[in-house]
Amino acid sequence: MKLRFIFLPAVILTTFLRAGFSAVPPAPLVPPSKGFETAVKPMITEYCAGCHNPKEFKGDLDLERFLTRSGSAALEERETWALVVRKLRAGEMPPDGKRKPPGEQVAAAAEWIEQQYALLDRNAKPNPGRVTAHRLNRYEYNNTVRDLLDVNLRFADDFPADAYGYGFDNIGDVLSLSPLLTEKYLKAAERVAKAAIPTGPMEKVLAVRYETEEMGQQFHMHVQTTHDFPVDACYNLRVGWEQGFQGGTLMTGHIYMDKKEVLNLPIVWKGMQDRAMYATNIFISQGPHLLEAQMEMAPESQQPRAKQPPPYPTVMEIFGPFNQVPREQTASYKRIFFKGPPPQNASPNMPAKFSARWRIGPIAGP
Ligand code: HEC
Repeated sequence: MKLRFIFLPAVILTTFLRAGFSAVPPAPLVPPSKGFETAVKPMITEYCAGCHNPKEFKGDLDLERFLTRSGSAALEERETWALVVRKLRAGEMPPDGKRKPPGEQVAAAAEWIEQQYALLDRNAKPNPGRVTAHRLNRYEYNNTVRDLLDVNLRFADDFPADAYGYGFDNIGDVLSLSPLLTEKYLKAAERVAKAAIPTGPMEKVLAVRYETEEMGQQFHMHVQTTHDFPVDACYNLRVGWEQGFQGGTLMTGHIYMDKKEVLNLPIVWKGMQDRAMYATNIFISQGPHLLEAQMEMAPESQQPRAKQPPPYPTVMEIFGPFNQVPREQTASYKRIFFKGPPPQNASPNMPAKFSARWRIGPIAGP
């Protein structure tokens, strides 16, 4: 019993994989080449500074102050320089009627500025910012528990629905942790631990009944449902209908498990007979599986009477489990106790291999 509890923190923690990495400081400006001194400064001095200085301040722009700067400091105000390049390339500055720098000088200055920023962008370490501590959404929780522990019982299906952000349900900022969800986490963790290391009695044999009317599939010849099978074991499947037919009517009943046919039953109608078909002793692994049934009528030419409506399945039933796999042989048990079952008075240390498995991503500090 003790061992089970060591899994609770693990299972709860797995809900917070992929915590964020801390903010990376912006990359330092690389020292620009001497180009500023030769390609930019002389042009500003001669053609721009006369209007763009602290006194004239045309267009609320002082370009003169850059003349005293060099190196990376000269390029610090990227927006200003982007504007300068735009005005230069458009030939809008200096204004018409004023003396303009020769075309090559304008091109050289604009090119050099653009190249510097292109270089900076290329060398900049990408800074995606900070990622919010990320809890798993319901799908991620189910899949993580399945991948980690080989327990495939979709425990998260009764968690509150995950919020959507920008059309996605896996955005850390939107996935909040409500008190209700915390409660559900604790319950789910208990159930996950119990399924992974069962300590109680074996599963009881139960009958689970799916009525096609309740499934919204009444009068369908092909019906389907997904059932959560509690353990690896054998199960019996029954599909029933209500109609009777003229004696001699020919049909075939099919039952499929995960798209694989497990029953193909030719039926010659006798009159008084069980209106059901069975697939028995089907081994089914733990977890959700798709169960389908279909009735197929033989062609009218082979029937004793034409135009008989086909039998519509009204109910699908699952009985089991039988011949349950001993829990020491289940995939999840073997995954956790990979060195064999623990001795009776085992210490509550987590097996090393397992603890390595669940530490999937770095969990960053604040
Ligand atoms: C004769 C004065 C004069 C000269 C010389 C001059 N400008 Fe201008 N500049 C202005 C005026 C007036 C404005 C504001 C009106 C406008 O945007 O057209 C302006 C606006 C600008 C703007 C837009 C500022 C903003 O915030 O929108 C930029 C950039 C600019 N100049 C760059 C230059 C550059 C680079 C040179 C030299 C190649 C230069 N100017 C030469 C007068 C001048």
